[in-house]
Amino acid sequence: MNGPILKGKKVILRPMSLKDAANFVRWFNDETVTRFLGRQNTGITLNQEKAYIKKIGNNKEQIIWSIDTKDGVHIGSTDLHSLNLVNKKTDWGIIIGDKNYWNQGYGQDTLKTVMKYCFNTLKLNRFGLSVYEGNAAGIKCYSKCGLKKEGVKRQSIYRYGKYWDEIIMSMLKSEYKLLKNK
Ligand SMILES: CC(C)(COP(=O)(O)OP(=O)(O)OC[C@H]1O[C@@H](n2cnc3c(N)ncnc32)[C@H](O)[C@@H]1OP(=O)(O)O)[C@@H](O)C(=O)NCCC(=O)NCCS
Repeated sequence: MNGPILKGKKVILRPMSLKDAANFVRWFNDETVTRFLGRQNTGITLNQEKAYIKKIGNNKEQIIWSIDTKDGVHIGSTDLHSLNLVNKKTDWGIIIGDKNYWNQGYGQDTLKTVMKYCFNTLKLNRFGLSVYEGNAAGIKCYSKCGLKKEGVKRQSIYRYGKYWDEIIMSMLKSEYKLLKNK
C-alpha cells in the first residue's frame, strides 16, 4: 500500500502517483542507477509502470513512497517490503533515481525518516536491508545511519564478470532507542 506523508529534514515521502511513472521508467532503464539493484535494466514500459502503480494498494506486506525534495522535485522511491506485523519486522529498499541528487544526504535523510516511522509509529522491532558489496554509496549511507552489518550472502549475484557478496544490515529497536543522530 501507499505510505502516509512523512517529512524529513531534506525529503518529503508521499504516496506514489501515476504522474511519477515516466521518471521511474527512465530510472529503471538506466544502468548507472540499476547496476547494484536485484534487477537490472528492467526494460519496463510506461504502461507497465502505470499498471504497477495502480496495483500498489493490494500488497499488505509492502508500504511504498515516492521521494520528493522539500522543493517538490521527484527524485526516487523507497519501500518497506516483507513487512510482518506479527514478528514486528520489515526489510527496506531505496532508489534515488535522479543522479543530480546523489551524495547529498537524501538517502540518509530518507532512511532516518522511514526508520522513525517504523520504530515509533509501526512499533517494529527489526529493520533490515541488503546491499551488494560494490555499492559503496549505499553501504556508507546505511552505516552512517547506524545500521549494523549482520552477515553476508557470499557471491550472491553475478554482474560485470564477477560474483558479488550481498551484505545484510539491520537495526533493532533496542539499538534505535540508543541512537543519538536520529
Ligand atoms: C545508494 C543510494 C540510495 C545512496 O543515496 P544518496 O542520497 O546518494 O546517499 P547519501 O548522500 O545520503 O550517502 C552516501 C554517502 O556515500 C558516499 N559515497 C558515495 N560514493 C562513494 C564511493 N564510491 N565510495 C565511498 N563513499 C561514497 C557519499 O559521499 C556519502 O557520504 P557522506 O555523507 O559522508 O558524504 C543512491 O545512490 C541510489 O539510489 N543509488 C541507485 C540505486 C541503489 O543502489 N539503491 C540502493 C540499493 S541497496
